[in-house]
Amino acid sequence: MNLRDRILSLREEIQSSIGGITSAEMLEEFRLKHLVRKGTLQAMVEALRDVPVEEKPLAGKELNSLKAFAEGEYKRLKETFDNQGTAEELLDTTLPGRNAESGHLHIITQTMDEITRIFAALGFTVEEGPEIEDDYHNFEALNFPPDHPARDMQDTFHINDPVGKYLLRTHTSPVQVRVMERQKPPIRIIAPGRVYRNEAISARSYCIFHQIEGLVVDEGVTFSELQGTLLSFAKQFYGAKSVVRFRPSFFPFTEPSAEMDVTCYICGGKGCRICKGTGWLEILGCGMVHPKVLSNLNIDPEKYTGYAFGIGIERTAMLKYGIDDIRILYENDLRVLKQF
Ligand code: DAH
Repeated sequence: MNLRDRILSLREEIQSSIGGITSAEMLEEFRLKHLVRKGTLQAMVEALRDVPVEEKPLAGKELNSLKAFAEGEYKRLKETFDNQGTAEELLDTTLPGRNAESGHLHIITQTMDEITRIFAALGFTVEEGPEIEDDYHNFEALNFPPDHPARDMQDTFHINDPVGKYLLRTHTSPVQVRVMERQKPPIRIIAPGRVYRNEAISARSYCIFHQIEGLVVDEGVTFSELQGTLLSFAKQFYGAKSVVRFRPSFFPFTEPSAEMDVTCYICGGKGCRICKGTGWLEILGCGMVHPKVLSNLNIDPEKYTGYAFGIGIERTAMLKYGIDDIRILYENDLRVLKQF
């Protein structure tokens, strides 16, 4: 290979290695290989002495241009790396920090936790039960007559199991049954959890929702104890000025049964959009545990009495935070979730 070709191939090498230099260390390697006295370019200068005289001008020109190119690139890159500085020099401690985004609990979980805390402070312990239940725990033991509409296919999601007895629980009341099966009075529990109903989805109802069940069984438990406990809950959750009222109602597993309303926390009872002008918000179902439920579970109804209640979480959260469509709670739109 004559000198001119060797210079051209060195140019190719230098050009491609310049393209790959990404650090000051690599640039220094480049300098030591090509630009020092024992480097490739100086070797070419020495070789130039030995070429035939007629080749000298052209080869000399190529070599000068390559040297100028290599030195120019070296200078340019060195300036770039010098200006970058070290990581410490680059750190500007006066800049505002970048916030790490953290998530938070869903409004349903927050509401459930808040209600749980209130009852825990009143001496209730927390129990759980399965979401896949059987007919016995969800209905039969709770004194639902065989033809009760809640057992209808319209309301209950039945599971296509070979035995045909499993379903998705339609309320948290079966946890009452499970607790009484394994524990003798005194019993004082709440059971928060998810329930399922095969209802047409609308602004007011969804196929999934949450409840908190409460159950107290002991000797001498009275309806006034139920009233006092739930009034205390209402004052803590909806505000100290809250007043409650009980309206007669019906549930197969309680006798007598009632629904509890609380004075609207928005208007204080005067009537507004949230309470639909009535001044009252309907917040839960409750009653004295039916003697048949106790005897179904081998608890002597002559000796023991009890009360129970069931709070709908979605409804409670919607009333408290002014949400008018239950579906919003299940869409997981961050623009909504971030508000709570
Ligand atoms: N399980 C009832 C429902 O889902 C709510 C309920 C009412 C629970 C009265 C109770 C109760 O424990 O005593 O509609």
